[in-house]
Amino acid sequence: MKQVLIEMYGTPWEVARCAEVADVGAPGPDEVVFDVLAFPINPADMWFCKGSYRLKPPLPATPGAECVGRVTAVGASVHHVKKGDLVINLQRENWTQRRRVKGDDAIPLPPGIDLKQAAMVRINPPTAQLLLSDFVDLKAGDWVIQNVANSAVGRLLIVLAKQRRLHTVNVVRRAELAGELKALGADLVIVDGDDLAARVAAVTDNAVIRLGVEAIGGAATGRLVECVGTDGTVVHYGSMSGEDPRVGRSNFIYRGVRLTGFMLGRGLAKRSPEKIREIYADLAGQVLAGTLHAPVDTIYPIDRIKDALAHADKGGRNGKILVSPNGEI
Ligand SMILES: NC(=O)c1ccc[n+]([C@@H]2O[C@H](COP(=O)([O-])OP(=O)(O)OC[C@H]3O[C@@H](n4cnc5c(N)ncnc54)[C@H](OP(=O)(O)O)[C@@H]3O)[C@@H](O)[C@H]2O)c1
Repeated sequence: MKQVLIEMYGTPWEVARCAEVADVGAPGPDEVVFDVLAFPINPADMWFCKGSYRLKPPLPATPGAECVGRVTAVGASVHHVKKGDLVINLQRENWTQRRRVKGDDAIPLPPGIDLKQAAMVRINPPTAQLLLSDFVDLKAGDWVIQNVANSAVGRLLIVLAKQRRLHTVNVVRRAELAGELKALGADLVIVDGDDLAARVAAVTDNAVIRLGVEAIGGAATGRLVECVGTDGTVVHYGSMSGEDPRVGRSNFIYRGVRLTGFMLGRGLAKRSPEKIREIYADLAGQVLAGTLHAPVDTIYPIDRIKDALAHADKGGRNGKILVSPNGEI
């Protein structure tokens, strides 16, 4: 079977290759085997290839934080999924044609769900949801501000916030995105820049913003922190700039702003397996209904992983790059 391997850390499209490897074999009693139908290339996968992600396993290694698969065999003691079911996998190493995992790591998805969207259910939808639920007790009418608002997480957050009747200020780096994000439910869309806090105050009529979520790092974190109100909270959950957050200390001393961080794994680890399945059942249901949607730019076969990675690195895409390892999407 085909599998993506990196044999050294470096520029993703230079170090990753599609290799022929041994098949995964039959499942053990508590295991599930599934064909990988699609996987997205996320920013964290790029950092994994570069060796700058928090996980840096010995090489050769296979990237891939998420995927959607179709079950081909289950062990005798696995009862929550059966042959033919669509699943997402809570474990990594998914850039391959087939996976054999512990039964508990295979989360069933509703039949009929769009495979491209299903490939992106595992990480970004619960990230957007937990960012809105785990830090500030938000009530209908409260304001939230986010940057990278055009990212998959950002777009999902707009929709989930709207469902809760929260107002969102959405910071982007491309003005032309305003119409699309407003169509999703964004209240305000604003282009990042040095005078961000003053412009946000003007367009919100000085609304008190209780939560900021930010994934750029560097000076952009500082700009977002300045937009939240006294005693507000800013959650740093990624660094598209590759820089650590830089925030003026007066925000902490004079205004009591709290800067904290989020990682999905830590957020889910606070919950029981039943609660985790409940979260995914709800989110997958919303994907099936079309309420939650992440745009897809291009789909590549696994043999063209180098082209897929180079494309994923380019700015200005209109959605995710997906890979279809078994040619089913
Ligand atoms: N902590 C967690 O558990 C967790 C979970 C999921 C995701 N994340 C993080 O969330 C962020 C978004 O992920 P995603 O999958 O939603 O991303 P995505 O869909 O691939 O979109 C990336 C976004 O980043 C913007 N961007 C790229 N480089 C930038 C820069 N130097 N300055 C400002 N903006 C930049 C892009 O802007 P354009 O649209 O203008 O190109 C795009 O909107 C990433 O940092 C990721 O690591 C964290």
